[in-house]
Amino acid sequence: MSRTICLIPGDGIGPEVSNAARKVIDAACPGIEWLSLPAGAGALERHGDVLPEKTLKTLEEVRLALKGPITTPVGRGFRSINVQLRKKFDLYGAVRPVRSLPGVKTRFDDVELVVIRENTEGLYSGLEHEVVPGVVESLKIATQAGCERIARFAFDYARQRGRKKVTVFHKANIMKLSDGLFIKVAKHIHETEAPDIEYEELIIDNGCMQIVRDPSRFDVLLLENLYGDVVSDLCAGLVGGLGVVPGSNIGKDFAIFEAVHGSAPDLAGQNLANPLALIMSGVMMLNHIGEREAATRAKEAYNAVLAEGNPEQLTRDIGGQGTTSGFADAIVAKL
Ligand code: NAI
Repeated sequence: MSRTICLIPGDGIGPEVSNAARKVIDAACPGIEWLSLPAGAGALERHGDVLPEKTLKTLEEVRLALKGPITTPVGRGFRSINVQLRKKFDLYGAVRPVRSLPGVKTRFDDVELVVIRENTEGLYSGLEHEVVPGVVESLKIATQAGCERIARFAFDYARQRGRKKVTVFHKANIMKLSDGLFIKVAKHIHETEAPDIEYEELIIDNGCMQIVRDPSRFDVLLLENLYGDVVSDLCAGLVGGLGVVPGSNIGKDFAIFEAVHGSAPDLAGQNLANPLALIMSGVMMLNHIGEREAATRAKEAYNAVLAEGNPEQLTRDIGGQGTTSGFADAIVAKL
């Protein structure tokens, strides 16, 4: 079946891991037409714009993309393209499954949780200004509607996947209005629409301690934007690092799939980055578009390569000595 999907290679390791992911997805699910679209620091150099109009127009038409990481300057420069895309296309729900993997040795071997992050509000609303010299202000936005739809999304997700519990991390003891609204709404959605799913609230500092002590006690985590960003990386550390955690950004009839990791400038251009996180994001995308068999084949193929544990095939972050392209080739060979 022919299907059109946008591919945003992105910056840093983005083009390398995107190539690898595309190879694996094509082997599992032939017939995809990829539209490669520039965005990010590289696009600024080559096209004079971090988010060219053609990229936005094509995304708007196709409404489905696999995206590599994009560099965002720290403390200066352009606003994060990732945040802009999520805002512009209202991709309000980020889904980040965090699972122990065969052959990837970590402190825990029973992690099976999903981080659901609100993607459009909170402190990432971009409302910052200097009040007077030496005093700046960042506004944290929480709306009833935004809290409701992400809470409903989390409970629906839990029910569809047969998951049993949703835990909200918050800091409503300090941010009584914004985080207060987040938990009030989540609790209401639980009571009125999902009483069959267990509900729990934890103050985030305690929640982080509990995750690193015993991640198996968590199932679905529901967090506002900033907490979700931070806790996603924390959870990645439980299962082997940023090279092995995929993600998706879901809106109404629109989805962008991307790894949790960034552009890893320390690895860029060396064919050393782990492509698995983006490959897994591609597998989530195949499931999302109903290509379940292809998704299962790809998943079995990467699990088989991981389980074999041949250091020549695995990248350094998970104990191998291999390359980005070599890892992808080993997965393709299984397919
Ligand atoms: P990062 O995720 O790029 O790197 C953090 C650490 O993890 C580095 O040591 C890196 O080598 C390692 N790492 C990341 N991905 C890896 C992979 N696939 N295989 C092996 N090791 C991997 O985070 P950092 O350094 O904080 O950010 C770098 C840039 O990426 C920044 O400009 C940031 O804004 C951007 N970024 C973009 C994201 C996106 O496009 N969705 C998400 C996070 C950061």
